[in-house]
Amino acid sequence: MKRLLIAGFVLVAGCNAQEQANQAQAPGNQVMPSAETRTAGLGEPIGREQALTLMKERHEKMEEIGDALKVISRQLKGDSPDLAQVRQNAEIMATLAPQVPGWFPPGTGPDVGKTEAKAEIWQKPEDFTAKARGFAEAATAFRTAAQGNDLAAMRAAQGNVGKTCKACHDPYREEH
Ligand code: HEC
Repeated sequence: MKRLLIAGFVLVAGCNAQEQANQAQAPGNQVMPSAETRTAGLGEPIGREQALTLMKERHEKMEEIGDALKVISRQLKGDSPDLAQVRQNAEIMATLAPQVPGWFPPGTGPDVGKTEAKAEIWQKPEDFTAKARGFAEAATAFRTAAQGNDLAAMRAAQGNVGKTCKACHDPYREEH
């Protein structure tokens, strides 16, 4: 039951992110800042118990993203990569990437529980969601490249994905 609730919540948060991204891009947009735009798609604050569950799931999903990229880079290092594996993991990454902002609603920071997520995420939510968007775009581009047979194009697209992980981890993830 709890999982369902959270999955629903994440979906809603994801939709908000898209809506606000559209709003931000609309030319001549005169919308006044509201509580909603202040959270910039990271969603509404959540309670402690729900937060701890979400933080655990977020950790597991980030690990999944990490594992997917590891398989991809191991394969693409060789001369005859297993493209089925590359494509399967490209799909995992491209599916998870757009969900990232929904994993960081206010109330899931270091003041609530053990996490490598820095408090800066909630101080600069627009920038954080922009970094997540950069990752989602790079992951989609990689998936497209992986559907072809051009290894150089795949490696270039993989490099671009790697840069978007670092672009977010450097400012927003605690080093341990
Ligand atoms: C928009 C920001 C953002 C992007 C993009 C991003 N990450 Fe993360 N990542 C984080 C944050 C924040 C954490 C810490 C989460 C926590 O501890 O709750 C994290 C944690 C992780 C972890 C450790 C698991 C954990 O929760 O401690 C791995 C592995 C990881 N990321 C891999 C990746 C890879 C690989 C990419 C790119 C393919 C990527 N991440 C892209 C923000 C991001």
